[in-house]
Amino acid sequence: RLLIVDFGSQVTQLIARRLREANIYCEIHPFQNVTAAFLTEFGPKAVILSGGPASVTDPDSPRAPQEVFTLGVPVLGICYGQQVMMEQLGGKVEAGHHAEFGRAFVTQSNDLDLLDGWFATGPEQVWMSHGDRVTALAPGFEVYGTSPNAPFAIVADPSRHFYAVQFHPEVHHTPNGAGLFRKFTQLAGFTGDWTMAAYKEEAIRLIREQVGDEQVICGLSGGVDSSVAAVLIHEAIGDQLTCVFVDHGLMRANEADEVVTLFRDHYNIPLIHADEADLFIDALEGQDDPEKKRKIIGRLFIEVFEKHAKSIGGAKFLAQGTLYPDVIESVSFSGGPSVTIKSHHNVGGLPERMDMKLVEPLRELFKDEVRALGRELGLPEAFVGRHPFPGPGLAIRCPGGITREKLDILRKADAVYLDQIRKHGLYDEIWQAFAVLLPVRTVGVMGDGRTYDFVCALRAVTSVDGMTADYYPFSHEFLGETASRIINEVRGINRVTYDITSKPPGTIEWE
Ligand code: XMP
Repeated sequence: RLLIVDFGSQVTQLIARRLREANIYCEIHPFQNVTAAFLTEFGPKAVILSGGPASVTDPDSPRAPQEVFTLGVPVLGICYGQQVMMEQLGGKVEAGHHAEFGRAFVTQSNDLDLLDGWFATGPEQVWMSHGDRVTALAPGFEVYGTSPNAPFAIVADPSRHFYAVQFHPEVHHTPNGAGLFRKFTQLAGFTGDWTMAAYKEEAIRLIREQVGDEQVICGLSGGVDSSVAAVLIHEAIGDQLTCVFVDHGLMRANEADEVVTLFRDHYNIPLIHADEADLFIDALEGQDDPEKKRKIIGRLFIEVFEKHAKSIGGAKFLAQGTLYPDVIESVSFSGGPSVTIKSHHNVGGLPERMDMKLVEPLRELFKDEVRALGRELGLPEAFVGRHPFPGPGLAIRCPGGITREKLDILRKADAVYLDQIRKHGLYDEIWQAFAVLLPVRTVGVMGDGRTYDFVCALRAVTSVDGMTADYYPFSHEFLGETASRIINEVRGINRVTYDITSKPPGTIEWE
């Protein structure tokens, strides 16, 4: 397996994606955890050092343990990882006078095994994002590629299989980045034989090992993730698993029924349907800060769990469908190297006082990998293909304070919108689509009367993993037809807008 040492870049997880796409098993570990002892135990066949926000010129900035370079395995440094390599192997890095962000073109200056297939048609497009740059190479290294602002864009010591690049080969804007990872892993002896079936078997083994003969309680949110986690755990430990579906009253129309039917009728998995809408909505009333809303929902979710866990006779484990992007975006500097964007409710909202251990078998996976695992487990296609739905539900699609009335309006508008998307055959082309009810009223005219009602925003994005996204280019006819259906069919809304923000700089959800 391959080890990715995370120095806190927002795109470290994309390195893992590129490798998984090439059927290579890899794990990401924050630099603080990667000690010499850890390396010995992990036994990586290759190491990748990620990018990160720090500057190696800062004496307190993170380093890799020196042992990474004496393991005798190939090492690839990316951006900050390149600078760490140069610094630790005897080169020199200086604070940059020209920060470089965005597209750049690299030209080849020497032949290199790693660059098989690169430069076939001239300079290669790459994505740069850095402030510092290497100014003197470490002994043994030579330059293999340059860009106008990065004279050391690609450097290597091929005899040791040490490679370091200034740019980010893991992002989509480096179109041939995948080829670079493929070649790097081939040089390290990987054959690309890791599959989802293998992942499933390994996950089942780990669940059995972790849980023993204890009882597990699994929180179902209604989304694909927690459902796949539950079915996987059920396959591992059968009746030791009880599912609790916490119906927080923040579900979409029909969502609750679909989940209950799937689990009780299709899988015959023991399921408690906890209808706690009043508890959640009362607690949320008057709260308009997105992080507070997320924390309240996270806390109540766990409280409800604990109550049911006790009622089934002391479950020691709580299972959740936490995904890798949930983990990475919630890890703040104290726990790991990235900056907090949002507290995802299944991670950031966990109260300290929780007295159950977590089982999170999807923690390493991306959304599309979870879908592949769901198919591997025989979940119906219509369920596996469902758009993601966030744990905090409609609460984060109702910016500002929440009321039952607003939720009701939102649910109706959302149902009309999705009906339109399905009727036009667009559901599967879109990663996620939903309505947002804005906390603004505007004036309108309907019939001969004045209206003063809410504004509804529609959101639809395409994405591969939820980490980056683009708005979906609906036709104007579709948007016009949908807007007039919503205004005609949903009382309380008199204006509809379409959100055309990509991620970044926006996020997919509004809160
Ligand atoms: P953002 O809004 O951060 O969302 O761009 C990325 C993806 O994550 C979903 N999301 C969540 N999923 N718990 C979840 O399980 C959460 O708290 C949460 N917040 C956002 C969001 O719907 C999108 O698919």
